[in-house]
Amino acid sequence: MKFMLIPVLFSLFLHCTSQSAITIESTPAANADGFIHASLQDTVSLTCKTDIIEDNELVWLRNDAVVSLQEGNKQGQSKLCISPVILEDTEATFTCYQRSNISDKVSVVLNITYPPALTESEQVTVEEEATLALQCNIKALPPVSSVTWILNGTKVDLGTGLFTITTDTFTSKLSTEKVHRLLHEGLYQCIADSPMYGIHTMDFKVTVTAKTLKFPLFPMIAGIVVVCLTAILAVVSRWKKITKCCK
Ligand SMILES: *[C@@H]1O[C@H](CO)[C@@H](O)[C@H](O)[C@H]1NC(C)=O
Ligand SMILES: *[C@@H]1O[C@H](CO)[C@@H](O)[C@H](O)[C@H]1NC(C)=O
Ligand SMILES: *[C@@H]1O[C@H](CO)[C@@H](O)[C@H](O)[C@H]1NC(C)=O
Repeated sequence: MKFMLIPVLFSLFLHCTSQSAITIESTPAANADGFIHASLQDTVSLTCKTDIIEDNELVWLRNDAVVSLQEGNKQGQSKLCISPVILEDTEATFTCYQRSNISDKVSVVLNITYPPALTESEQVTVEEEATLALQCNIKALPPVSSVTWILNGTKVDLGTGLFTITTDTFTSKLSTEKVHRLLHEGLYQCIADSPMYGIHTMDFKVTVTAKTLKFPLFPMIAGIVVVCLTAILAVVSRWKKITKCCK
């Protein structure tokens, strides 16, 4: 049954392409719907060909903009090389046609995928009682299917009310209003699961330091000095009376 299908598909393919004088070949190959799958940093090459022998200058469009082609890369066959594939190529449409017959166009669409960019680890130092906010960039195509936060090897338990986690399509953020060393210091991990690229992890090593004095030191010292001087003067003035009594 499987072997029967192949000649059928092959003849369908021939039938489809015979309507147009233009064909686009690509590496990697496009699927039946004209989508070319590629990852960021890959190279995609496209070759447009026409059966027409005369007046066969070819034109390439990227989305709606004309791609400027060198002489010798236009007549009968024209090659484009997208290297490397970048984020802006996501869903970019490449269209080829013959300048003399704009009604006969063939297009392919780049279907770019990329994993979440979670590579580096981060050292975070936070003061006792300050706010702790950790953020990981989970933007990916296809989007990640789940994000998990781990503290010292155990999943962060939201039920305890110690942490808040907010996740949207681009970032996942773990935060806590008031840091306590015993509860919050340790090794955190943000784990993103991509349906296409698997597990990606980012580490945050969080250190909680003692609280530093936030009020201005100099006026405080001046105040203390004034209080001490007054006390000494009070004692001195009293001393006369006290010594008088003692006589
Ligand atoms: C343009 O291409 C279409 C599709 O191949 C074809 O039917 C039509 O005759 C062509 N027109 C000219 C002017 O060549
Ligand atoms: C693009 O590729 C992804 C992953 O292979 C797939 O899930 C998605 O359906 C493709 N999109 C199109 C429009 O083909
Ligand atoms: C996590 O582990 C580190 C090192 O073992 C420890 O100092 C810290 O207190 C632990 N944190 C929590 C919240 O248990």
